[in-house]
Amino acid sequence: MKNVFDYQIEFSGLQNRMAQMFDPKSGHTVMLAVDHGYFQGAPAGLINLRKTIEPLLQYCDAISPTIGGLKTSIDSRMRTPIILRATGGNSMRKPEELDDEIITVSVEEMVKLNAVGFTVSCYIGLDSQTQTIQNLTSLTEEAHRFGLVSIGITAVGADPILTKFVKGEREDGGELTQEDKKEAIKYLKHACRVLSENGADIIKTYYCEGFEEVVESCLSPIVIAGGTKRPTKEALEFTYNAIKAGAVGVDMGRNIFQNENPVAMIRAVRAVVHENKTAEEALHLYEKYTKE
Ligand code: 5RP
Repeated sequence: MKNVFDYQIEFSGLQNRMAQMFDPKSGHTVMLAVDHGYFQGAPAGLINLRKTIEPLLQYCDAISPTIGGLKTSIDSRMRTPIILRATGGNSMRKPEELDDEIITVSVEEMVKLNAVGFTVSCYIGLDSQTQTIQNLTSLTEEAHRFGLVSIGITAVGADPILTKFVKGEREDGGELTQEDKKEAIKYLKHACRVLSENGADIIKTYYCEGFEEVVESCLSPIVIAGGTKRPTKEALEFTYNAIKAGAVGVDMGRNIFQNENPVAMIRAVRAVVHENKTAEEALHLYEKYTKE
């Protein structure tokens, strides 16, 4: 007897794009974020974008450039899935307006450049909250017509809570208190859930102690950004802790391309993300790769 539901009558382009970005065995991803220049100008480690990206490309499951970075610095014949930065319009020259982002890349441009998805920063709790959530919802709605993957970023650099949290210190440079850490979890839980309720397929945010709570209250899978450059051991530790807490991968930039040995670092991050190595085991691998 035949059951109509035994037949496959649909193919999901979006799922297929997710399958290109995520390792089928681990269900995790190591994406390389190199879009910082859209508001930072030329940050350390990204001065020569092509030179930075080339040796790392073979080790990333996806790459997150800006449209300018893609057009000028990534070879069209490369086969790594592209996640395009799709919002901006701000710059560090006007830090007080960092949250004032607009849509800067159309879905048509994403399709033309063969991106599998895009990122949108949303500044939850700041003046531009409505505008940046609308950036996410309008781009996601149109992009889903073409099966593209939408990644919502609970952005930093503008929110006082996150700024001190991501920097890992208080405004006065003092240690973060337990209160600060509780505040950060509350903010990240809230912001990640708002982005997932508004339709982001994947959320990108920062790791914090108690990250399990952020994962549990979010409807969508979460990848972590790395934030400002930390010592190698520390970066591998928060990567391990984030995966253990339920993150499905990283979309990491500065902790890879500003590391003393970026190739060794991305390979060590892969060992944590895809092979469940501990931070200590990954650090040994890092030291081994550094000598290769
Ligand atoms: C701000 C971004 C970056 O892609 C994101 O912060 C990831 O980079 P990093 O690991 O360096 O924080 O959205 O440019």
